[in-house]
Amino acid sequence: MCGIVACRTATSAAPYLVHALRLLEYRGYDSIGVAVRGSDAALVTVRSIRRVDDLAALLAARDPDGLGGVGIGHTRWATHGEVSERNAHPHRDCTGSLAVVHNGIIENATELRAELRGRGHEFASDVDSEVVCHLLEEHVDAGRDALAALEATVARLRGSWALVVLDGETGALVATAHGSPLVVAASPLGVFAASDVAAIADWVDEVVPLRDGDVVELSDEPRWMRAGVRRSAPAAVSAAPARRSVEPLDHPDFMAKEIAEQPAVAAGILDALRPGIERGRLWRELGLPDFSRVAVLGCGTSLNAGTVVGRAFSRLGGVPAEALVASEAAESVLPPGTLLLAFSQSGETADVLRALDDLDPGIPVLAVTNNPHSTLARRASSILHCLAGPEVGVAATKTFVAQVVTGVCAALSALTAIGRVPRARLREAVEELARAPERLARALDVGAATIPPVVARVSAAPGFVFLGRGAGVPYAVEGALKLKELSYRWAEAYPAGELKHGPLALVEPGTPVIAVDDGAPRLAGNLAEVAARGAAVVTIGGPGSTVPTLGAWSPTRAAAAPWGPLDAVVPLQMLARELALGLGRDVDKPRNLAKAVTVD
Ligand code: F6R
Repeated sequence: MCGIVACRTATSAAPYLVHALRLLEYRGYDSIGVAVRGSDAALVTVRSIRRVDDLAALLAARDPDGLGGVGIGHTRWATHGEVSERNAHPHRDCTGSLAVVHNGIIENATELRAELRGRGHEFASDVDSEVVCHLLEEHVDAGRDALAALEATVARLRGSWALVVLDGETGALVATAHGSPLVVAASPLGVFAASDVAAIADWVDEVVPLRDGDVVELSDEPRWMRAGVRRSAPAAVSAAPARRSVEPLDHPDFMAKEIAEQPAVAAGILDALRPGIERGRLWRELGLPDFSRVAVLGCGTSLNAGTVVGRAFSRLGGVPAEALVASEAAESVLPPGTLLLAFSQSGETADVLRALDDLDPGIPVLAVTNNPHSTLARRASSILHCLAGPEVGVAATKTFVAQVVTGVCAALSALTAIGRVPRARLREAVEELARAPERLARALDVGAATIPPVVARVSAAPGFVFLGRGAGVPYAVEGALKLKELSYRWAEAYPAGELKHGPLALVEPGTPVIAVDDGAPRLAGNLAEVAARGAAVVTIGGPGSTVPTLGAWSPTRAAAAPWGPLDAVVPLQMLARELALGLGRDVDKPRNLAKAVTVD
């Protein structure tokens, strides 16, 4: 989704902006732009509806001596207005000397635009963000400096924003945020701001996240203000965990790298959390109240991971669990005694944050996120960092596994602490969980050998059906989600028993039916029904399956793993990736999608 970078550096700003924009690319975008203060104090704005390489070439074609060390850059994921150069950021005021980059949505942009037009302002784009430029212009005209003008401007806005303003006339660079992430940082190389730490992590050791309402001047000694009064800066956090390469190094793409990292990710989480499971220490350290039911909240893959964890609470501890689609959660009534687990790898998903606004504020919230400095982490009652490391591919892979393993550790510890699981049963589950890294590694090997022939069989199919039963269902749902987002083919997921109530009509000779076969009773009968209609059945299961990833599946293993067949997700990810590559798709940056979905 949209990304912001800004810098004030001793040498030319352009190479810094280009490098940072490359590191923001993974978030998903459809246009890109920078504004740099020229040596004559005029703003040079370069925008493109192509990729960062195109922008870099346009900048390289300019006289390097003409560009100074102060600049702002942006990747745009269109919300208001088509994808076009005129709608790309940075936007400017009528005089052309104030440039603005914005993430978020200005909800009252239509009213403000009409009001500003009425006062003679001319708009050059269709985007909501442009109103900010013209409001600023009025305050600067009234004699305010950029910082005061920005504070006065945001007082007129409704919605969410991370904003950085470059005043070409004075060279001032000012930033503010409200409901959208932004960090600032200083180092001997210069002063930086970004919406994503990864963009600037190569140049700084620490970053300072803005609180809602902070306004910062990015001078050599950043000046922090709030409601017109000078404030001290919030606490800094390390930038090192966000540092990453722009290339997937030894892998053909980031998705391949991140799929391959899953056994190590699971092992790292277990090293950190397993000692706290028995005796309930992990749970108690979270400082949350006891509970009698759980609700899991999330979107897409994170919702699927949450569903798996919710089922672990019910299957192991008999605790009622419900899964809430974040964008629909406002409809839900959560009874007293509910613990809400909010799953979000980015911690910035607007639907999840909005759900927290809409749900009862008295409900304790445990955030399970890969971003411990995110808005979700700040708003939750407590947080579990799921330790997946940076995930660059837009399609979530290792963060799914990380959220499941982290969430299951929390579930096992909590159920122990509240006395909902007998000791022997707990030990059996912990031993099974400890086998996850080895099982995931085996799934990679089996998938490498068996997925290519499956892809060859199904690559011409226009649509796919994914099935599971019981604990296998959320994995089938995740497999279908991965396949549609990467290959752009239709994929429907169902509990297998539901098929005969309608979806069976989709099945015709050759329709691929991908079944997560964890030995659930009655699945074989459902598969016989589709096979009888000519479906190309692919089973991901134990020995004898098309993809025998699950090793020797047994009722004992099923009972010991209330979180279901986690290792099945690996071949499902591989199937989606390889099918997509065969169809010529960009698996790291699927069309229309974004890594952090910061609009609702
Ligand atoms: C799918 C995918 C999305 C995200 C969803 C929630 O591969 O990545 O479905 O899972 O947008 O994102 P987070 O986890 O950041 O809240």
